[in-house]
Amino acid sequence: MKGDTARTDLVVKAMTIIDGKALSEKVLKEIEKEHSELEKKVGRKAGLAVIIVGENPASQIYVRNKIRACEKVGFHSETIRLDENITEENLLLEIEKLNNNSNIDGILVQLPIPKHIDGLKIINAISAEKDVDGFHTTNIGKMMIGDETGFLPCTPAGVVHMFEEYNINLEGKDVLVIGQSNIVGKPMTLLLIKKRATVQVCNSKTKNLSEKLRKADVVVAAAGSPKLVKASDVKEDVVVIDVGINRVDGKLCGDVDFEEVSKKASFITPVPGGVGPMTIAMLIKNTFKSYKQKIDK
Ligand code: GUN
Repeated sequence: MKGDTARTDLVVKAMTIIDGKALSEKVLKEIEKEHSELEKKVGRKAGLAVIIVGENPASQIYVRNKIRACEKVGFHSETIRLDENITEENLLLEIEKLNNNSNIDGILVQLPIPKHIDGLKIINAISAEKDVDGFHTTNIGKMMIGDETGFLPCTPAGVVHMFEEYNINLEGKDVLVIGQSNIVGKPMTLLLIKKRATVQVCNSKTKNLSEKLRKADVVVAAAGSPKLVKASDVKEDVVVIDVGINRVDGKLCGDVDFEEVSKKASFITPVPGGVGPMTIAMLIKNTFKSYKQKIDK
């Protein structure tokens, strides 16, 4: 019979879409449970304060999602909305108030902030013990030397969490990071090194990006350039992490051409529903860590 003949020409490839939404919900559920027990003993909730300066529409959405996550896990949250013309001095005063507020464990200033304000000065004005974004010079230094009392930047920490949950071993793997921002590319590189990966970091000046991409076992795309990574750029069974959140014709898309690249990948993150929710889960995790550190003191 025709159907009995073994097919040797058919290769069924397994591709896994990394479900950042489900994974983030799992993280949030665990925190919600532990927090509700601790809250009864301590007599106060963990608290996050989010400062937003100006009316950037994308920032409004990100902040709303962060506050929603706080509500989901039962944290106290505050949003401080400031005019885009606020002086640096007045913004520093707002941060100082939150540094001294004992109901607040985590403070973040949503980026970007207006150009007349010195971003680094603002980030470093947040108490390092409340810097749940993990952007303060002290926390970056702690990450560099592996001091685990600090806070890891949320997006790279979320990506590492994905690798761990999906049992993706990075030891000896060639990883290509596209983008060298302080928020993603640079800290991502450090965390990948810690996992014993061999890391190459590219930027907009990099020559022959496609050639480099084709050699990579793992790609972390954080360039902010829609559909930059094409199927012809990657090798079979590549692991692809798409950090990009771009809006094209009103629709969200990543830095990776998901539809085409997913046909070659062994693991891939979607946009939306991949790295984004994990970033927020790690923010909540950092805020809870800060709360517990304060209780222990
Ligand atoms: N803008 C884009 N991503 C982030 C983030 O992770 N934290 C803050 N504070 N601002 C951002």
